[in-house]
Amino acid sequence: MSNQPETSVMSRIVALCKRRGFIFPASEIYGGLNGFWDFGPLGVQLKNNLRDAWWRDMVLCPPIGPDGKPLSIVGLDSSIIQHPQTWVSSGHVGGFNDLMTDCRETKLRYRADHVMVFNVLYEDKKGTIETLLIGSIDGDDVLHGVLKKAKKVLQKNGGGTICTDNENDVAEIYYKAFNVRPFSSLSDEDQKSVYGPDASEPGTLTEPRPFNLMFESYVGVFQNEDSKVYLRPETAQGIFLNYKSVLDSTRVRPPFGIAQVGKAFRNEVTPRNFIFRTREFEQMEMEFFCPPEESATWFEFWVCTRLGWWKEQGLSPGNLLRRDHEKDELSHYSTATADVEYLYPFTAPDFGELEGIAHRGDFDLTQHQAHSKTKLEYFDQENSKSYLPHVIEPASGLTRGVLALLCEAYQYDESRASPEWLKLKPALAPVKAGIFPLVNKDGMPEVAEKLYLDLRKAFPCQYDAKQSIGKRYARMDEAGTPFCITVDGDTLKDQNVTIRIRDTAQQEKVQIDKVKTYIQQKIS
Ligand code: GAP
Repeated sequence: MSNQPETSVMSRIVALCKRRGFIFPASEIYGGLNGFWDFGPLGVQLKNNLRDAWWRDMVLCPPIGPDGKPLSIVGLDSSIIQHPQTWVSSGHVGGFNDLMTDCRETKLRYRADHVMVFNVLYEDKKGTIETLLIGSIDGDDVLHGVLKKAKKVLQKNGGGTICTDNENDVAEIYYKAFNVRPFSSLSDEDQKSVYGPDASEPGTLTEPRPFNLMFESYVGVFQNEDSKVYLRPETAQGIFLNYKSVLDSTRVRPPFGIAQVGKAFRNEVTPRNFIFRTREFEQMEMEFFCPPEESATWFEFWVCTRLGWWKEQGLSPGNLLRRDHEKDELSHYSTATADVEYLYPFTAPDFGELEGIAHRGDFDLTQHQAHSKTKLEYFDQENSKSYLPHVIEPASGLTRGVLALLCEAYQYDESRASPEWLKLKPALAPVKAGIFPLVNKDGMPEVAEKLYLDLRKAFPCQYDAKQSIGKRYARMDEAGTPFCITVDGDTLKDQNVTIRIRDTAQQEKVQIDKVKTYIQQKIS
């Protein structure tokens, strides 16, 4: 690895995603729309590959349970818009709120628990130690921004020296060194002294107040309270509404799961960090219905299984951790939750959520049973008893998963033709192979094209005959393509092509009729 460039890793990843067609800002030609992103040609393929891997490992080939037998999990695709009562029963209308605060000076709005307040100690001219409360939104280089602002404030107010001023010393422990706390957890008195993230004066942030995150719309021609509906903020509720139909129409019996992948919408107060927190995103959720007395075992089972699954997708164990929620953090429906967290560049040295595994108990089925007046109990014939199953829910973000894959894959190495490249797991890479004729003559293009037409039936690949071979390798490296196949003069004589391996840049000679099997083995 060589020296890293000045710009932050995250801004380089965002730039690469745009340059190479992974992810674009939505509606960019109209100036963009905050919290919305579009997936370009490479991005949609990467996203689909992650989605397909999840579907395969959940629905088509579910894990083996603790008793050594394969689990029973079926798929579903429910509507985005459901009966509005759904969201009253689920608690979302009453309780799906974030605390927000407005800045009176800049008119900007923030999630109150996302404004992190740093206690910056300074020595004033008389030698007394005082404190500045500087609010900041987490992100790249947050500490640098806080210290810069603190200096500006001191300059404006007649001077003073900041006590902890060496960013490098404290970067790893800055949360402790600056006693960083969310704005929402501060006393009323302290809140009044905070400098808002974009404000120049203290005390401009309003007292935090709740804000419902659901997007509203109307069904039919009249737009009034009676026709109001919501875009789903999670895919889970569609599963609960269909639980009885699935039981009645299939042979599944508890313990069993229903899995769904699809769009979810949340009017996030502060969408940020690229596709980490957006207003439209995709989820991969599975509700696992089990007898109440087995629920603790299944909770543990799913936390371990999901952590292991993310490692299999290429996320390194050191960048993943399990975090069990404190009691006061639990969602309104949950009695226990553990998150799978990832070390994103913008959360480092902390980790951020990738997936949540929640023990939802019988909260949702109880609610829907009471409000719909439909009996949702399961009759266990073997033991002659009816009960409402308890639910364990592994809920992950598909789009957030793509972000974790991109962060993990991003490499910078000046010794390569393309210093920036993506070390994606071959099975997830959008394009598996690039096929090149060494030169555009002497029969090489014909052989390469024939090979391309054959290989593309088996896996996504690209034919590239433009510019030098080095430039073609570089283009493929940036796209995360694991293999490049070159047809050269020797191919015409001995039927061998050269396969160049992305991760090592090493080359191997492989017989042209063995190429498909060679690559299929590597990507399976
Ligand atoms: N059904 C439970 C549920 O929705 P959640 O923790 O709110 O739980 C599950 O969401 C996952 O969905 C998160 O772990 C995250 O990966 C993803 N997610 C949630 N909000 C998101 C947002 N605004 N943007 C992108 N992904 C989001």
